[in-house]
Amino acid sequence: MSDNLCEMSLQQTLSLLQLTDQALHDICCKRFTRDFLYQEIFGKVLGGKGRRGPASFFLIFQEESGVLQPGRAFHMKDGALVERSDEISLDPFSGYAVNLLEAQAQEEVVLVNWADSYESIGDFQAYFHPAVKNFIGAPIINFIICRISGAATGAIVAFNYPGRATTYDAEVLKSMAVVIGSLQTMSDEVQETEKAFRYTIEALARACEAAEEDTGKHIQRVNRYAGALAANMGLPNDFVETISFSAQMHDVGKIKIPATILLKPGPLDDAEAELMRKHPIYGQQILGDSPRLQLARDIAIAHHENWDGSGYPYQLKGDNIPLAGRIVKVADVYDALRSNRSYKNSLSHQAALSVFRHGDERINPAKHFDPVLLGVFFKIEHIFDKIYESFNV
Ligand SMILES: [Fe+2]
Ligand SMILES: [Fe+2]
Repeated sequence: MSDNLCEMSLQQTLSLLQLTDQALHDICCKRFTRDFLYQEIFGKVLGGKGRRGPASFFLIFQEESGVLQPGRAFHMKDGALVERSDEISLDPFSGYAVNLLEAQAQEEVVLVNWADSYESIGDFQAYFHPAVKNFIGAPIINFIICRISGAATGAIVAFNYPGRATTYDAEVLKSMAVVIGSLQTMSDEVQETEKAFRYTIEALARACEAAEEDTGKHIQRVNRYAGALAANMGLPNDFVETISFSAQMHDVGKIKIPATILLKPGPLDDAEAELMRKHPIYGQQILGDSPRLQLARDIAIAHHENWDGSGYPYQLKGDNIPLAGRIVKVADVYDALRSNRSYKNSLSHQAALSVFRHGDERINPAKHFDPVLLGVFFKIEHIFDKIYESFNV
């Protein structure tokens, strides 16, 4: 290997190390998906000025049954990664596909330059599946196949390195395949864990609503209203996404309140009201100290605080009330107005709007809600109605 190639190889492998480090750092974050992985690894390791890489490549994975999944095809253009929107589908039992994943199984990497074994480039093309030739869109002059192992086995096939494909190219590709294999396994696990996390949150929120009549629809609607408010306030996507599943936990603390109090028709006596007013604190305690549940804790503790400091449990005022709590308060009050509760009948959207404008015996909009948020609510009130009605079928 020449010095120049050695140095490039080192640089590319170093990029791969940095990427692995970054991916591990991002592992708990939602953007660590397969797509993110491909974009990063292919784009950053093979792309960029002065980087040496194939003109095109595709990724192909095998199901446990041995059947090939549709492959993902990529081209490099001016050093940047371009993914073709359509996927390459190879007949899973075609000779070519079998070649890719089985006949080559003995070797981890296979490197072929046309001039080494064929009379002409034209003859060499006959080796390839029509779908592959069609995708490459130019005569294939060389290729490297590298197996990917890990939870999902498959292969990366890289086509048309400039000049000849070299052992250096094969080494870089092999490092990529190893990284892709292991990060992909982790990525799949992270996605599974995230799903389990969300399911557990939902189950917890639902359990707390079980005593009330609404069988969990209230919490789903509150999620949606809160997400709509946050999005229309121009808050970052991450916040919007998190509040859209954290809002449902606003009343988790009610699990500690006896059903006789929760479902009591008519007003609560002083002792009952005092206990009821503790549900935000109970909620905060139940949610513990996980950083993932920070927003949920803010919501649980603050969704009954009032803008003028007259709420509970801590009489927080104005900006001192966590934003997520202020948002969920608007969402929760709207939904409570629209719903049948043991102590009241449901209101129409227009009647609920009127309460948000002029107040009633319990609600004083100017004193209770963040004025900016109230403005956003009036701007998107039709969305609130739509959300409520969509659950009412
Ligand atoms: Fe509450
Ligand atoms: Fe609620």
